[in-house]
Amino acid sequence: MREQYRTPRLTVADLAPEPIEQFTRWFKETATNPAIHEPNAMVVSTATPDGRPSSRTVLLKHYDEAGFVFYTNYGSRKGGELAANPYLSLLFPWHPLARQVIVTGRAARTGRDETVAYFRTRPHGSQLGAWASHQSSVIGSREELLARYEELAARYPEGEQVPVPPEWGGFRVVPETVEFWQGHENRLHDRLRYVREGAGDDWRVERLSP
Ligand SMILES: Cc1cc2nc3c(=O)[nH]c(=O)nc-3n(C[C@H](O)[C@H](O)[C@H](O)COP(=O)(O)O)c2cc1C
Repeated sequence: MREQYRTPRLTVADLAPEPIEQFTRWFKETATNPAIHEPNAMVVSTATPDGRPSSRTVLLKHYDEAGFVFYTNYGSRKGGELAANPYLSLLFPWHPLARQVIVTGRAARTGRDETVAYFRTRPHGSQLGAWASHQSSVIGSREELLARYEELAARYPEGEQVPVPPEWGGFRVVPETVEFWQGHENRLHDRLRYVREGAGDDWRVERLSP
């Protein structure tokens, strides 16, 4: 199941001066490629303080110079791991383009106002779903979950404002490194990694061996 990639070269000279602009260039190409179903799907990896990792897919909902934002339940497994150890990685698996982007950094909760503003843009059903699910906890059956959802749907019919669950909200990932990986034939891939220098917005770029 090996594929020989025939793909454009990635050079330091081609790169944007900072990683968010470079991410935007690739994200636009990805978003317009019909072979990539959910371009904003990314694998979030977290770890317990004693170094046990866990990964799952989430959707990127916003990004800018301040970082990459996703929404979840703070009481979930990832929420608990991030509360104890804020270091994480994000991986965008854009296989049809023979590309991946890997971000490492630190996560911080988004402000409540930002969370509320985003929650209001979600469809009514997913607002109710956020209340119905105590994400990552063990449940007896699917029927239990559906019953909870039906109760909520009766309490907050369509058109009625659903309050934001206190345990639900965003994480903003402030990047420390961002690697752009472009696959090529004979395993001679390009890997260019931005590394943040100091606490500001200065970045150096290094080429990694594939
Ligand atoms: C394509 C896709 C998108 C998903 N998006 C989210 C998301 O944005 N937020 C979220 O909490 N879970 C999302 N999930 C579910 C997570 O993968 C995961 O099951 C859930 O967050 C619980 O993870 P945890 O128990 O490791 O904390 C998504 C799953 C898939 C397959």
